[in-house]
Amino acid sequence: MKQGERKNFASKLGLILATAGSAVGLGNIWRFPVEAGEGGGGAFLLLYIICIVIIGVPLMTAEFLIGRAAHSNTSSAYRSLTTNPFFKHFGILTILIGWFIMCYYIVVSGWTLQYLLDSISGTFIHLDKTGNANAYADHFNALVSNPWKPIVCLVIFVLMSHYIISRGVEKGIERFSKIMMPLLFVILLILALCSLFTDGAREGLSFLFKPDFSKITFSTALQAMGQAFFSLSIGVGCLCTYASYFSSTTDLQSTALKVSLIDSLVAIIAGVIIFPAVFSAGMSPDAGASLVFVALPNVFHQAFGNIEWVSYLVSVMFYALLVLATLTSVISIHEVPTAWLTEDFHMSRKKASALVGVICIIIGSLCSLSMGAVKGLNVGDRNLFDFFDWTTSSVLLPLSGFFITLFVGWVLPKRIVNEQLPSYGRKTAIAVKLLINIIRYVAPPVILLIFLRGLKII
Ligand code: PHE
Repeated sequence: MKQGERKNFASKLGLILATAGSAVGLGNIWRFPVEAGEGGGGAFLLLYIICIVIIGVPLMTAEFLIGRAAHSNTSSAYRSLTTNPFFKHFGILTILIGWFIMCYYIVVSGWTLQYLLDSISGTFIHLDKTGNANAYADHFNALVSNPWKPIVCLVIFVLMSHYIISRGVEKGIERFSKIMMPLLFVILLILALCSLFTDGAREGLSFLFKPDFSKITFSTALQAMGQAFFSLSIGVGCLCTYASYFSSTTDLQSTALKVSLIDSLVAIIAGVIIFPAVFSAGMSPDAGASLVFVALPNVFHQAFGNIEWVSYLVSVMFYALLVLATLTSVISIHEVPTAWLTEDFHMSRKKASALVGVICIIIGSLCSLSMGAVKGLNVGDRNLFDFFDWTTSSVLLPLSGFFITLFVGWVLPKRIVNEQLPSYGRKTAIAVKLLINIIRYVAPPVILLIFLRGLKII
């Protein structure tokens, strides 16, 4: 496809909101509290912020740089920028990692949709009235082990994303993000305010913000780094593909800074919503993957239970928030292989997006069934769903991030890096120099060390 035929994002705001839309998702609202809860709260948050600053922002800029320099999908971007036999094909690898993520991501996306419907229909108020302490856990387990319900939900999610993707970059992705993201921030702030008035506010906030330094280990650092990569959508071709729709005047470094800031703020605010609520209900913050689905609906009722309509509204808003955030991320992962198939295999956008969706639905359904409906869908001692989650965030994303730093720091011709990161004055010249040095000398050994020590390889 000729460069002139490709659509770009039409406005600066649209571009930032769309990219932030990719970054902000289940990773912030579902995965971050789970990881922080298990990693000791404040200690995890501290490691997470360090990872975002010294690895996340530089890596995001690096991926932007590749995408905008090539102005094409991730696979041809690497192919057109280098003749190195490994890196020439590296783009395809990142696309496949993203595709891998989408397959299990849509399973959780489906749950969010079902929980939104449950909140609207008042199911949680009914569960609260049964007086059974396990009612919420039973409800969640019944959903995830149901053979067809989660699959119907994930199919609906993929169809929604397919609809938006096939409308194109500007009329689909950008327009949709411009509506969804502001709405998401409003809901987030209202919920955070509500949470601050619960009984557990003090305990929850001190869990989240007071680091217990004994919890800082390499394995927590690997969790934090994997979470930072996942949350910023690093290493899967998303940022590269979106940057290929940036205009030549977009400032890559400041865009990366803004998007990372928005993403981290949303994760922290999600923690501010969730931990006070969890402590108010006397629950444990390390409840794991079900935190948002078992603890929270219960918590909303315990925390605001005296006034039924408030707890009803809070839970509807929370799950609506989760669905919105998830949809903007699913769209971005869906876009990566779609752009690849459209440009490299000359498929129509609609056909490419449908093909990507169908493959995800098939693998996603298997992941969903592995959660209980069908026994034995395991890899080693992990069920398929956990296998996809662990492999991507703890292995594939760190590795992919490591190779991207090598590529931009050492393989890509300096001329291209300087073209993409021009320095207009002394201040930007220093910032660009700092960034390039981090990409060359700091990020690769740090990623590798955390990766190898975290997995206990060294
Ligand atoms: N960043 C998204 C989130 O936090 C997940 C995601 C990962 C999206 C990789 C695109 C690519 O939920």
